[in-house]
Amino acid sequence: MSHRIVFTPSGLDGTVETGITVLDAARKLGADIDSVCGGRGICGRCQITPSFGSFSKWGIDAVEASLTAKTEDEINYKGKRALVEGNRLGCMAKVCGDMVIDVPAMSQVHRQIVRKDLDLGVIVVDPTFSLFYIAVTPSELGDDVTASQIIRDAIAQQHNIARPTISNNALSQVNRAIDKGDGGATIAIKRSEVDGVAGNIVAAWPGFVETMFGIAIDIGSTTVAGHLIDLTTGEVMSSSGVMNPQIRFGEDLMSRVSYVMMNKGGEKELTTVIRSAINDLVHELADKADITPDKILEVVMVGNPIMHHILLGIDPTPLGAAPFVLATSEATFGAAEELDIHLSNASFYIGPCIAGHVGADTAAAILSEGPHRGSSMQLLIDVGTNAEIVLGDTTRQFAASSPTGPAFEGAQLSCGQRATAGAIEKVRIDPVTFEPRFRAIGIDMWSDEPGFDEAVIDTPITGVCGSGIIEVIAEMYLAGIISQDGVVQGSLVDKTPRVVSDDRTFSYLLYEYGDTKLFITQNDIRAIQLAKAALRAGIDLLVEHAGSPEVHDIRLAGAFGAHIDPTYAMVLGLVPDCPLPGVRSVGNSAGTGAAKALLSRAQRREMEHTVTHVTKIETATEPRFQDLFVAAMAFPHAYAPTPNLSTLVTLPPRTEGSGDGGGQRRRRRP
Ligand code: FES
Repeated sequence: MSHRIVFTPSGLDGTVETGITVLDAARKLGADIDSVCGGRGICGRCQITPSFGSFSKWGIDAVEASLTAKTEDEINYKGKRALVEGNRLGCMAKVCGDMVIDVPAMSQVHRQIVRKDLDLGVIVVDPTFSLFYIAVTPSELGDDVTASQIIRDAIAQQHNIARPTISNNALSQVNRAIDKGDGGATIAIKRSEVDGVAGNIVAAWPGFVETMFGIAIDIGSTTVAGHLIDLTTGEVMSSSGVMNPQIRFGEDLMSRVSYVMMNKGGEKELTTVIRSAINDLVHELADKADITPDKILEVVMVGNPIMHHILLGIDPTPLGAAPFVLATSEATFGAAEELDIHLSNASFYIGPCIAGHVGADTAAAILSEGPHRGSSMQLLIDVGTNAEIVLGDTTRQFAASSPTGPAFEGAQLSCGQRATAGAIEKVRIDPVTFEPRFRAIGIDMWSDEPGFDEAVIDTPITGVCGSGIIEVIAEMYLAGIISQDGVVQGSLVDKTPRVVSDDRTFSYLLYEYGDTKLFITQNDIRAIQLAKAALRAGIDLLVEHAGSPEVHDIRLAGAFGAHIDPTYAMVLGLVPDCPLPGVRSVGNSAGTGAAKALLSRAQRREMEHTVTHVTKIETATEPRFQDLFVAAMAFPHAYAPTPNLSTLVTLPPRTEGSGDGGGQRRRRRP
């Protein structure tokens, strides 16, 4: 006798014979129901919600008797994934009448998840690995069969998939998996990219193992940040970050390459310290999440090309000079142990690079923010010691890297410091009195509020961090303390004690308390001008290559972007003029992209495909870059119009030769 069965939310329906399990019916009709234990009532992954009642849409009257009664296994079910009230185990409940069956999200293999903790948006979890629980019988004396044969055969027979191959690493685990598991073992298989083709067994554990994990890491030149993620649910189990220990060989990338050039064996030192830091990080993540490292099956990493090469043990010196030839731009993979990451069962995957200066971190950021998926132009900027810039829409994408140096991070400035307690992060300057007020990290009030003087006793003001530097220079410009050329106006010496002579230039006294004096010097302003001109010229170069489209979607990635006020970014001219709501911070988009590539094979393929279509613009060899750089030295820019910014702040009149805001006149070289 046959019955009509409808699966929701997929809407897949068909007829099945009496007595078939709901799980098998789903498989027959192509509906998506998870199973690790292969229908043994152990994993709880196959939970379904029967719907009873009259469904005129399908002509089905579903009654309780349309499913068999609860089995002993269901009644006694004690799996880790609790059986939700009203749910049945799809592998136990058998069809004996017309039914409408809802497959809850938790039971869908390719379920969509929305992660807020890592801002993954909506993503379909479809990792590279799958778990299979199998019933196994230890072989007896005289059996002509190996442990790996038992496991491979059991998977093929019990899960009805192609007989998998097995890795050398897993071979060392098969005997124990069979002997110690009370008749059951859980096998992790790296899936083939081709449907129907056998996967490869990468790990084998005795008994039932419910889930597996992966780690996504963004290797920045300053920090290395990682997330440990459940590969079956997409849940972020732990997150952590460490300083990149290569900093002791040089703050920025080029100084590290110089170290390698000047010190025999230097590349090995750099490789050793970053691998060691990553190994420490992955074990810290596992400890934090209380997970044994053998359950971690993959580490996905992204980083700029120099980090990429050093991590892989490739000499980075070809990336230090034109023509900046990558050893490879393709995604790379292998056993984690090859990179001294001591996770016995894990593979590594490093994303593809785009060009000699634009790496896998940018590829991951593109995947995360999706300029290639949008119909309007998106400008994606990740500012670190190098700025990676991507401009694109569905039809074309351009990418470049600009050497901004560490000035935006507060380095090389007389009062610059990292964004830690006591660092000034917000600044306002009265345009009449030239007096500043500010906020500092760790002090929950403005400097002109009552109680501030007491607060600095506990949290002394020690410097100015990146966002504070941007704000103080932008405010100095808006208050007329510096000219559009970035020159501190010595004529103000008589009007305010804040402007002081400093040999042949002038400085602005931002803060004074006891022996502490924080000045914004002419050299500080020059350093920021050079950094912002490098960034802006890179942006303008891409905009020109794209045919000068309107850009109303500007995304600031990375820690710097997270703290910068978009209005001040425009006052300085870090980014082109744009309606303010169009400028936003997107956090660590490279790390987010790495997590997406970890959780989804489709996303990984999309990243690998997209980078092959990105047009690389080499700022170092583009003749136009120098002109754009000179124009970008001015605040906010020598001649670019500022219609949106002008509605937000009162900009000082442009100085002679700087253009009228709408014309194309050029200013002389500052
Ligand atoms: S498939 Fe594992 S409990 Fe049903």
